[in-house]
Amino acid sequence: MTIKLTLEGQLKLSIALILLIIVSLGCLWSVRDAKKNVREEADASVRLALTLIDASHLSGTLTPKNVQAWIGQIRALEKIRHLRIVASSFEGLDTTAQDTPPPARDGRVPEWFERAVMSAPIHATRDLPIGAERTLHIQIESRAADEIREAWDQTRGFMVLLAIFAVLVYVSVHLIAGRALRPVSRILRGLHQIEAGEYDTPLRAPDLPELHRIVEGINHLASTLKEARNENRALTRHSLTIQEEERRTLAKEMHDEVGQNLTAIKMMSAVIPESAENRDHAAREIQRLCDRLFHVVRSMIHRLRPMILEDLGLMAALEDLSDHWRSIAPALRISIDCHASLAPLTGDTGLEIYRIVQEALTNVVRHSGASEVKVSIKPTDSRHISLIVRDNGRGLIPDGPRRGFGLLGMRERVASLEGRFHLISEPDQGLEIRIVLPIKDALNG
Ligand SMILES: Nc1ncnc2c1ncn2[C@@H]1O[C@H](COP(=O)(O)OP(=O)(O)O)[C@@H](O)[C@H]1O
Ligand SMILES: [Mg+2]
Repeated sequence: MTIKLTLEGQLKLSIALILLIIVSLGCLWSVRDAKKNVREEADASVRLALTLIDASHLSGTLTPKNVQAWIGQIRALEKIRHLRIVASSFEGLDTTAQDTPPPARDGRVPEWFERAVMSAPIHATRDLPIGAERTLHIQIESRAADEIREAWDQTRGFMVLLAIFAVLVYVSVHLIAGRALRPVSRILRGLHQIEAGEYDTPLRAPDLPELHRIVEGINHLASTLKEARNENRALTRHSLTIQEEERRTLAKEMHDEVGQNLTAIKMMSAVIPESAENRDHAAREIQRLCDRLFHVVRSMIHRLRPMILEDLGLMAALEDLSDHWRSIAPALRISIDCHASLAPLTGDTGLEIYRIVQEALTNVVRHSGASEVKVSIKPTDSRHISLIVRDNGRGLIPDGPRRGFGLLGMRERVASLEGRFHLISEPDQGLEIRIVLPIKDALNG
């Protein structure tokens, strides 16, 4: 299982690792330095002892009488400079009593440090003549225990400082990173809200310019989503209202026209058996009522679904539609240019195109004040149809209120078919609706 660290976690982990490396290198460096110091110190002590021995020997000749006192003076150096000084090869001199045992281990210095800085002791010897025949042999050896203790004190101080520095840096980074990344958590919360469909509370813009841009983008996204949702809700409400209105109108027409005419036919048929005169009259009346019923039912069916489209195809249905508008607006020139391969189109794609042209022509008549409108339908390739409706009227009012649902419904209809929808309009240059639709059903005919 892989654990994904947050940005803040990654930052803190990286800083902690870097600090760990710095502290480790610092410790290594200070131990190395301590070892060098201890060695130099021991070397200096031995050299000092030799210089003192040489100097004091030169200042007066050693004799069997004064040698003991002289050795005592020289050995005083052991205490000051951490040395072991042994004098020997002199008859009558108790050399064993002169050797001081090595100092016991200092418990304050950790063994690892001792081992790390310890190096081989430095040795030096001197042979000094005593009178004319004898020689005093002096051995000097460095004893680094005290230097090691001093070095440990220094090194420990340095390490403690380094550790304090590392902790301070880490705590600062922890606080700064936490503060700097707080807006990121806020942005994430905002995104969750948007996911849940809450678009009303815009995110507060943070001071960081990068995050500021992101928050602006998210707020813009939220307001666009909100607008789209509101449009969708309004459209749904509108279609439900239209549906209800349509049902009410149909129910009213059925009740008023169909119901009444059927009642009349029933009454007519009741009087037929009464007299021959009634029979002729009733038969004619029933025929007239049936014609009327036929007309009513046909127009109801036409409103529900243009039968001509099913029977004769797209081109005929569009011609029928433009005839209807020509009769209402005779001054408007309507031209329909439908590619021959699409003229017989029926089915869903045919109906979608028919509905779009229907709404577009309604708009031209209602809003454009145009003298001409051209409808062009042709295939762009084997899988797409291009539909263009262009009028020469006043065009869309820029930034004008859009209260209706015709264009919105058209856009949604095209989107639901995965097509493309464009409105091109300049004031007084007319309006052009450009649509590309994918062909879903096979072109028949
Ligand atoms: N062909 C056109 N020429 C000029 N303006 C138009 C045209 N079509 C639509 N409009 C403008 O766009 C608005 C929205 O149209 P639409 O969505 O069909 O709603 P409605 O027709 O119910 O007003 C119209 O009110 C009108 O101002
Ligand atoms: Mg309209």
